[in-house]
Amino acid sequence: MVANAAAAGQPHWSSKAAFVLAAVGSAVGLGNLWRFPSEAGVNGGGAFVLIYILCVALIGAPLLLAETLIGRHGQRSTVASATLMARQSNASPAWAGLAVIGMIANYVILTFYSVVAGWVLYYIGTSGADVVRTIMAGQPFAGAYSHLSVEEVRGQMPALFASPLQMTLTHFVFAAATTFVVARGVKGGIEVAATWLMPTFFVLLVAITIYAGISGDFTAAVAFLFTPDFERALQPQVLNSALGQAFFSLSLGGGAMVAYGAYASRDTNLGQTSGIISAADTGVAIIAGLAIFPIVFSVGLTPDAGPTLMFQTLPAAFHSMPAGALVGLAFFVLVLFAALTSSVSLLEISTAYFVERFKISRAVVASLLGASLFLIGMVSVLSFNVWADHRPLAFLPGFENANWFDAFDGVTGKILLPLSGLITAVFVGWIADRKLVDGETGLAGGPLLPVWRFLIAWLCPIAVFLILLFGLFPQLIS
Ligand code: PFF
Repeated sequence: MVANAAAAGQPHWSSKAAFVLAAVGSAVGLGNLWRFPSEAGVNGGGAFVLIYILCVALIGAPLLLAETLIGRHGQRSTVASATLMARQSNASPAWAGLAVIGMIANYVILTFYSVVAGWVLYYIGTSGADVVRTIMAGQPFAGAYSHLSVEEVRGQMPALFASPLQMTLTHFVFAAATTFVVARGVKGGIEVAATWLMPTFFVLLVAITIYAGISGDFTAAVAFLFTPDFERALQPQVLNSALGQAFFSLSLGGGAMVAYGAYASRDTNLGQTSGIISAADTGVAIIAGLAIFPIVFSVGLTPDAGPTLMFQTLPAAFHSMPAGALVGLAFFVLVLFAALTSSVSLLEISTAYFVERFKISRAVVASLLGASLFLIGMVSVLSFNVWADHRPLAFLPGFENANWFDAFDGVTGKILLPLSGLITAVFVGWIADRKLVDGETGLAGGPLLPVWRFLIAWLCPIAVFLILLFGLFPQLIS
C-alpha cells in the first residue's frame, strides 16, 4: 500500500471514537427522523423497511467503506483525494469528476436541509413557549398546545409555510449555526459538536421511544414496520425510494464520508467502522419509526402523510398525549441536534475543497459558503408560498408536480447521489489499484474481503444502475 503524507495543515480527529461519532453524527439526521418515517409511511411500511435494510447491507455499507478509504488514503479534500487515487492507479484524473458531482449535490442538499431544519427550530420555539405556558398554569404534564384545538395545531404547518419571513428567519439561524461550527474547524468545531450532541441525542431518543411504547400503540407500529408486503416491495418506485433513502441516510454519494475519512488515522480499521456506522444509522432510523408510529397510531392518525408527518401529524398526536408538551419539545430538540451534526458534514466537503485549493482561511471560506447556501435556500423557502406554482422540472418524468424544493430533493436524492455512488463503486471496484484499495479496507486476509470486493465491483454498480433506470423510467418494465 502506498501511504501518502497528509496535505500540509490537514486536521485529524483526536481519536478513533471521535471519527465514528462524527461519522454517525453525519449519517444520523433529518434523513432518519423526518425522511425515513415519511418514506416508510407512503411506501407501505414493512415492504419499504425490508428493501431499505437490504439496500443498506448490500449497497450502502460497502460503499461507505469505499468512500472512507478514498479519503483516508488521500488525506485531502474529496476532489484531491479522488484525483490522487486515480493518479496512483494510472487512471485518468477525470475520475475525480465523481467527487465534483458529489460536492455540488451535497451543497444543493444543504440548501434545503437548512430550510427543513429551520422548521424544526420553529417548532422548538412554539413548543418551548407551550411548555412555559403549561408550567405557569401548574399543568406541566398537559398535552401539547392544550389551549388550541387539533385543527389549530395542524394549522401551524400551513401557517408557517405561508410565511416566507418566518421560514427565512429560522433557515438563517440554522445556516449560521452550521457555518459557525464548520468555521471553528474539524477538531474544535465538528468533533466538539458531535461529542456533545450525539450522546444527548441517543438518550433523548431512547427516552421518547420508551414513552411511545408505554403511551402509544406499539403493536400497531411494529406490525406496520415489520410486516412486508412482497408484491409492493418489488415495485420500482419502492426500490428507487429505498435506495435513494439509503444513500441519503448514510451520507453517501456526495463525499461526506470521503471528507471525514480524510481526517481518520492510519490505524483506524475502516471495514469495522463502516459496519458500525451503517448499523448505528439503520438502528436509529428503525428506533425513530418505533418512536413516531406508536404515537401516530394511538390517536387514530394515518402513517402516510409524507413529509408533513413530523411537522403536522406528530404535533397533532402530542396534543392528545399525556405530557405531550414536554415530550414534543424534547423530540424537536433531538431532531435539531441530529440535523446540526449532519449539516456540518455537508458544508465541510466544499469548505475543505476551497481551503485547500485557494489557501484561504477556513473561517472566510465557511462564511462565504454559508452566505450563499442561505441565499440559494431561499428558493426552497419561496417554493412553499410565493413560487408555489412553479414546476421547474415538469418536462422530466416523475417530476411533473415537483416544486423547487421537491426538485432539489428529488434530483439530488434519486439521481445525483446514486449516480455518483455508481461511479464510486466502478472506480474503487475496477479502476483503482487493487493492492492499494485492499490495503486500506482493514479486511485484508479475512473472509470479508472477497465478499466486499464482489459487492463493490458487481452488485453495487449493477443494482444501482438498474434501480436508477427503472425508478426513473418505470414504463420500461410495465
Ligand atoms: N445523512 C444525513 C441524514 O440522514 O439526515 C443527510 C446527509 C448528510 C446526506 C451528509 C448527505 C451528506 F453528505
